[in-house]
Amino acid sequence: MSFYAKRWLMKGIIAPSLLSADFADLRTELRSIEKTRAEWLHLDVMDGHFVPNITFGPPLVKAIRKTTKLFLDTHLMISEPMKYIKSFIEAGADLITFHYEAVKKEEITKIIDTIHDLGKKVGISIKPKTSAEEVFEYLPIIDLVLVMTVEPGFGGQKFMQEAAQKIEILREKSKDLDIEVDGGINDETSLIAAKLGANVLVAGNYVFKHDDYEKAVNNLAGALEQSGFTEKEGREESYRL
Ligand code: DX5
Ligand code: ZN
Repeated sequence: MSFYAKRWLMKGIIAPSLLSADFADLRTELRSIEKTRAEWLHLDVMDGHFVPNITFGPPLVKAIRKTTKLFLDTHLMISEPMKYIKSFIEAGADLITFHYEAVKKEEITKIIDTIHDLGKKVGISIKPKTSAEEVFEYLPIIDLVLVMTVEPGFGGQKFMQEAAQKIEILREKSKDLDIEVDGGINDETSLIAAKLGANVLVAGNYVFKHDDYEKAVNNLAGALEQSGFTEKEGREESYRL
């Protein structure tokens, strides 16, 4: 006898990281990403203080917003994120992720509320050495948790498997939260991260240094699909038990 059931499908998302793109030709880079099934664009904001590197700020986000409809996934690797939230949202960010290590514990709910009050999504990111348990209490009030699988600061580093294990703990705790993984994601490590429960994959070098962006994105999407994360969210499906 066969049994059929309905299930909730969670969306798998690919977020190419602009950090590895050709900064002298961003318009062409954006058009190439728009042709793929990537829906998010990951924007790495670094201040030379919280991390040892400096990238860009709201003016660049604003320029990008004018030329693309991609969802702008803004990863703030900066000290005192509260000071800059409004500027990034006015520039066009759709999601603001700040670092747990960059703020005082007593500021966290205020930062979350400020971003939500401005109508945008909120994520909290944890560095490789920060435990998953530290952010448990915020999971019910945020939209996304970003697990760093490299020390933040630079693209092109090696995926840290030990840091990725935290994804499994977070997924166990929170079934419908977006869990994003960032650092060293490629066609092999994407399979590991997705299997542990990450449904949002950031990839800088793997996409932008690939000779075929579409193929790179499809490979990452394939990893998500193998773990049950699908192109569309909420589709109910009948399947044989
Ligand atoms: C690193 C950034 C990442 C970076 C990832 O601090 O947060 O988003 O762009 O680059 P890859 O995918 O090359 O490791
Ligand atoms: Zn990032």
